[in-house]
Amino acid sequence: MIWEDIDIHAKEWVKEAGDRIRLSFEKTLNIETKSNPNDLVTNIDKEIEQFFIHKIRSVYPDHKIMGEEGFGDELKSLDGVVWLIDPIDGTMNFIHQQRNFAISIGVYENGVGQIGLIYDVVHNELYHAIRGKGAYLNENPLPLLKETSVKESIIALNATWVMENHRIDHNLMIPLVRDARGTRSYGTAALEMVFVATGRVDAYLSMRLSPWDFAAGAVIIEELGGIVTNLEGEKLNFLSKGSLFTAKPGLHQQILRDYLKKEQ
Ligand code: IPD
Ligand code: CA
Ligand code: CA
Repeated sequence: MIWEDIDIHAKEWVKEAGDRIRLSFEKTLNIETKSNPNDLVTNIDKEIEQFFIHKIRSVYPDHKIMGEEGFGDELKSLDGVVWLIDPIDGTMNFIHQQRNFAISIGVYENGVGQIGLIYDVVHNELYHAIRGKGAYLNENPLPLLKETSVKESIIALNATWVMENHRIDHNLMIPLVRDARGTRSYGTAALEMVFVATGRVDAYLSMRLSPWDFAAGAVIIEELGGIVTNLEGEKLNFLSKGSLFTAKPGLHQQILRDYLKKEQ
C-alpha cells in the first residue's frame, strides 16, 4: 500500500470538504436530533460524509468506510483498509458557534492506524500524520511530546465526568481535577486530541467516544510519542464505543497509577 498516495487524495478531499463547510455558514442549517435532544446532526454533517464516501469509492473501491452518519459500510471487522470518518466532530459547536469543530479522518489497515487527518476548518489548520513519518500542523513538523506531571498539566475533560455519572466513579476524578494545574473542555474530541499532540493541553479523557472520534487523533498523537489507551490503560477498540485516555508520556502512567486505579 502506498500511503503517501492515499494521503495526498485524503488531504485534497479534506480541503474541499472544508470549503463546502465554510460556504454552509451563509445558509440555514437543517438540524435534527439523534439518540437524545443534545445529540445533534445537520444536513452538512450528512452531505460531507457522503462527499467523502463518493470520493473514496471512486478511487479506492476495495476500501471500507466507517462513517458516523451511517452512509458507509456496516463493519464487523477491521480487515483490509478502513477509513474512519467523522465529517464534523463538534457538531454542537458547529451549530452554536461556527468554530471549535473539525473534520476527522483515520485510515487503518488491519486495525493499525496508518494515516490521521484532523482539519480545523475555521483556522485552516490541518493536523496530519502518516505512521512512521512524523506528525505535522500544515507544513510544519510537530515536536515530540515531553514528559510532564499532573501538577504542571492542563487536562481536557468534560465537566460531566466530575459529577455523579454512570460511567465512572466521579470520586476518582475530583482529586485529578484538584491536583492538575487546570482543566479545559472544548466539546470536540478530535481537536482535544490535536491539542494533546501540540502540547496545548497535556491530557484528554472521555468516558464514551466512538471510533471515528479518536481514529485520526490516535495516529497523530502516537507519532509524537504520546500514549493513547482507554481509561483502563488498554489498547483502543476501533470497532466499538468506549472510553479514551490520552496523555504525554509519564503523565499517562502517573494518572493511571495514582488516580484511575486507586482501588488496586
Ligand atoms: C462529539 C464530540 C464531543 C464528545 C462527544 C462526541 P460529534 O462528537 O467529539 O466532544 O464529547 O462524545 O460525540 O457528535 O460532535 O461528532
Ligand atoms: Ca465526533
Ligand atoms: Ca460528528
